[in-house]
Amino acid sequence: MNFKLTDEQKMLQKVVRDFAKKEVEPTAAERDEEERFDRAIFDKMAELGLTGIPWPEEYGGIGADYVSYVIAIEELSRVCASTGVTLSAHLSLASWPIFKYGSEEQKQTFLTQLATGEKLGAYALSEPGAGSDVSSMRTTAKLDGDHYVLNGSKVWITNGGVADVYVVFAKTDQDAKHKGITAFVVEKGTEGFTFGKKEKKLGIRSSPTTELIFENCKVPVANRLGEEGEGFKIAMTTLDGGRNGIAAQALGIAQGALDAAVDYAKEREQFGKPIAQNQGISFKLADMATEIEASRLLTYQAAWLESEGLPYGKASAMSKLFAGDTAMRVTVEAVQVFGGYGYTKDYPVERYMRDAKITQIYEGTNEIQRLVIGRMLTKE
Ligand code: CAA
Ligand code: FAD
Repeated sequence: MNFKLTDEQKMLQKVVRDFAKKEVEPTAAERDEEERFDRAIFDKMAELGLTGIPWPEEYGGIGADYVSYVIAIEELSRVCASTGVTLSAHLSLASWPIFKYGSEEQKQTFLTQLATGEKLGAYALSEPGAGSDVSSMRTTAKLDGDHYVLNGSKVWITNGGVADVYVVFAKTDQDAKHKGITAFVVEKGTEGFTFGKKEKKLGIRSSPTTELIFENCKVPVANRLGEEGEGFKIAMTTLDGGRNGIAAQALGIAQGALDAAVDYAKEREQFGKPIAQNQGISFKLADMATEIEASRLLTYQAAWLESEGLPYGKASAMSKLFAGDTAMRVTVEAVQVFGGYGYTKDYPVERYMRDAKITQIYEGTNEIQRLVIGRMLTKE
């Protein structure tokens, strides 16, 4: 067993850490307050090659492994969870299914545009009546000559409105439940494809979450991803890896909150000594650090399994479950360490606490992760 990062992984970690500190952290609170997405940050990530971390160089990527990918999401989320999820959704939800299931032509076009950061990606699975229960989706896609006609709506779409390329799931056979779902690549600007409500949220407020509306939207047959009826498998296998990206986001949020809490506990004095010298505070910090380390091991392990071509679905559900719950507990405790100051916007820990909550909800709620893990255990 080897727990050491490679030289390449360490170099990427340093590049992203420096970038996050210099270019992302300074505006994180302000973007959160104003609910403002900043495309310039995404463009700068593209310049660093982060928009194509795991894809081969022939498709515009930098050919790194999935451990490098989770390290990047962790480092970004350590200062700004919204920026973390922008990149996570772009890479693991929009680009991955094109890399895995796209035709050579689709990869040359869409994957390359996404990997170089010329275009931003999104993944549209959820609907008003179909969140956890994916196969009850109602958006339809009817074949008509050389195109499909899409009708329906998608909700909660991360990067919605600002993304250029959307991986969209719709039913080509309404009666066939999960076997009737098909995946498509739909470009922004396609006639009949518009954006609805933008959500006002508790956390990750500078990551736009938007409704997508399809009204007789014509999508070329050439934009179908995989075969008709393969959509559920494409959606699920995409989430198998995507969930580890959210684990990395949760890990980064928790680490950022712990860093702030340790610094504060060393500086803040009450009863004539730093509060860190009270066992009540230092035990809290010790528990937080231990849970974070366990989250990191699970997250890096799931990424390593994917890089090695080994099964990683269960490991990824476990990392998301554990890291998400850890982020929630750790950020609540970080606010506690700060006392009243932690409850204000003068310090970042209240933002970390608001941001942590989403990691227990999206890419499958943590109840769904338990369901996935439980089903896999009984199948094994
Ligand atoms: N890989 C391959 N095949 C899979 C699979 C996987 N991971 N999971 C299920 N399947 C297969 C099953 O083997 C089964 O195959 P057969 O047809 O041969 O029987 C078929 O798919 C149906 O599987 P289930 O019976 O398990 O399906 P289900 O309807 O009970 O649903 C579920 C399973 C796990 C609950 C699924 O619906 C699910 O993951 N729900 C949560 C949705 C979710 O995570 N949404 C995230 C949206 S994206 C997001 O949120 C973005 C963001 O954060 C930024
Ligand atoms: P429901 O499915 O209605 O669940 C409600 C509650 O019931 C939850 O606690 C759930 O755990 C529980 N529950 C449901 N079924 C079961 C069960 N069988 N056993 C035990 N408990 C159960 N979706 C996308 O497609 N693309 C995106 O980019 C995207 N980004 C998102 C960004 C944000 C900020 C948010 C809030 C959501 C996003 N989502 C996205 C949607 C997200 O994946 C769903 O919200 C999530 O899967 C839960 O679905 P739901 O909200 O409909 O809750």
